[in-house]
Amino acid sequence: MKIAELEKLLKDMSLSEKIEQLVQLHGGFFGHIDTYTGPVVDLKLTPDQPYRTGSVLGEHGAAHLKDLQDRMMEKQPHHIPALFMADVIHGYKTGFPVPIAIGSTFDPELAEKITSAAAKEAAAAGVHVAFSPMIDLARDSRWGRCMESTGEDPWLNARMAESLVKGFQGDDFGKKGKMASCIKHFAAYGAVQGGRDYNVAELSEHTLFEDYLVSYRAAVKAGVSMVMTAFNTIDRQPCTTNKRLLRDILREDMGFDGVVISDYAAISESVTHGSSNDNGDAAKKSIEAGCDIDMVSECYLQNLEALVNDGEVPERLIDEAVMRILVLKNKLGLFENPYKDASEEDEKEYHFCEEHRKLSREAAEESTVLLKNNGVLPLCEKQKIAVVGSLADDNEITGSWALFVDKSQTVTLKRAIEELYPNADVTFVPSDEITENMLAAAEKADVVILALGENQTESGESFSKADISLSKSHTELFNAVYGVNKNIVTVLFGGRPLAFPELAEKTNALIEAWLPGSCGCYALADILFGNVNPSGRLSMSMPYCSGQLPLSYAAFSTGRPKPKTDGFYPFISNYMDVPNVPLYPFGYGLSYSEVKYSAVSLDKNVLKNNSKIKASVTLENKSDRSVKEAVQLYIRDIKGSVVRPLRELKGLQKVSLEAGEKRTVTFEITEYMLRFYDINMQFVSEPGDFTLWIGHDSLTENGADFSLEK
Ligand code: GLC
Repeated sequence: MKIAELEKLLKDMSLSEKIEQLVQLHGGFFGHIDTYTGPVVDLKLTPDQPYRTGSVLGEHGAAHLKDLQDRMMEKQPHHIPALFMADVIHGYKTGFPVPIAIGSTFDPELAEKITSAAAKEAAAAGVHVAFSPMIDLARDSRWGRCMESTGEDPWLNARMAESLVKGFQGDDFGKKGKMASCIKHFAAYGAVQGGRDYNVAELSEHTLFEDYLVSYRAAVKAGVSMVMTAFNTIDRQPCTTNKRLLRDILREDMGFDGVVISDYAAISESVTHGSSNDNGDAAKKSIEAGCDIDMVSECYLQNLEALVNDGEVPERLIDEAVMRILVLKNKLGLFENPYKDASEEDEKEYHFCEEHRKLSREAAEESTVLLKNNGVLPLCEKQKIAVVGSLADDNEITGSWALFVDKSQTVTLKRAIEELYPNADVTFVPSDEITENMLAAAEKADVVILALGENQTESGESFSKADISLSKSHTELFNAVYGVNKNIVTVLFGGRPLAFPELAEKTNALIEAWLPGSCGCYALADILFGNVNPSGRLSMSMPYCSGQLPLSYAAFSTGRPKPKTDGFYPFISNYMDVPNVPLYPFGYGLSYSEVKYSAVSLDKNVLKNNSKIKASVTLENKSDRSVKEAVQLYIRDIKGSVVRPLRELKGLQKVSLEAGEKRTVTFEITEYMLRFYDINMQFVSEPGDFTLWIGHDSLTENGADFSLEK
């Protein structure tokens, strides 16, 4: 439809009809729901009301959604098609590695391929909008939703956000196989106090803008269609009713003109937060803040009409919200084809297809992080191997949002080894129980692979943990095996960094496999047996203990910085019981190759008048096998009008090097890269001295100095 036609349609709509467009209900209101993604609520609706609402949460399947669309359009007075939105977080039918793992690929291009595949599958199932990617910065692994984030670094999150959105939307999400993307949760949901989900977030204006808003700004610039509000507060106001956050920052400052949707019942929850008197007050505050859709609460449906008729809310606000929704439906082509891509034939062709299974495996090859290896890896098939631990044969490794994935198809580590390495001499004891025969199997083996950590039921929404130590039972299991065989390869599954300093000390090799998705264990087996050279890098630092959280490599000097040497220093900023730094930091990860970096060379040392500095290193792959290397550029602003982090990621190039290959990698340093929010909250660069490093991870000291002159 043309915009003029949409405007005419809007004019023809009654007020109650317009308000119904601002409501989203889940399948339970239509007599069918697979999974509740929030508390069950009774909204006291008339039987026909759900069918007149503007969008539906969580329903999927081509035949079902074509039928539901028919029923809704029939009952909607102007036969306006409904939007179908669902949580396609780490794949639809094919489970991909969870987002914290996708962040660990350090490969935004690969991330785009993943959401492109997910879009193809979900669009064929009739879904129009993905509530994805979640681009919340995560620096606290007590928060179970760090699993859904691409990690702790603003710059990497921004690159991943752009790519993940692009994968879903392409250059026109009305095209076949594409869908609208809804980023979430705006804003700073990852900063919840104590890492406890749904809690308040208390952070400075600088931290909000410098760290937590960066990925959203990038996603808006990349053309994302929708934004979902967060459950937490910012400045003591629930995000969903926070006018400064949604209108001044998101719409005015960032220039977002798409649809804003509340998170599940979040409008009504502003009453329980204690900042709205009742649902009417919540509705007024939210529509004034610019929240267009009320997800699964009765606030808009039961209150907006009276608020408009009483002159409390200008009808203009309703019209603006409805128009944004009609424009989104129009961009999806729903007025011409209300089913869009829904097709049972395409479902059969795309769902869990060979191409997507292969991509799921490739993603895990790049997301799996080798953290320690004293030479025990890679294994060979002649060795006598024992594989111990229930996670070695657990198919709950596709992530807590794998709502549509067929878990019966999930390849476990046991199955992957049996299929790919049938000649290997492997004894499986897929149990956490410490028994005589488990100990006997471990003792007789040349090497023990221990599968520990968490499956998907221990991370994700609401699964907060105050103590992120490796579980007591898994620690006991490790120590029991260690008691009979010191040659252990520990494989960690899970959606969050855990704390296991003692184990890390004792194990001979350590791999972070995250939750690798439907086919990720094939990659894990290939890494264990050396057919894949691991290239993953941590997207989130691994702490020594919960007490260090929130934690990031991008720390600040403080006025009393700790010397680099170990130990406790009185009157210095340090802990008596653990180091300040992570056990394994952001960007860290090993491979089976040695990649040598030359010293950094700069083509000039002074940046001025829009000039650029070329910073180069020459890499050499000293090994006899190819390797993928995530070359990282960090920069430090030595002094600013406000304190500045000791280093920040400002560039990344993931390169493939053949055996023995030398390659020069160059980064361009620009004035724009040096900008930050200064003492007056202006986004500017300040003249002065800087250091840059180019290296393998955030620990690199391979650096060079330069200055910026104005
Ligand atoms: C949940 C989540 C959000 C999800 C929404 C719809 O509460 O917070 O990420 O998209 O509800 O399922």
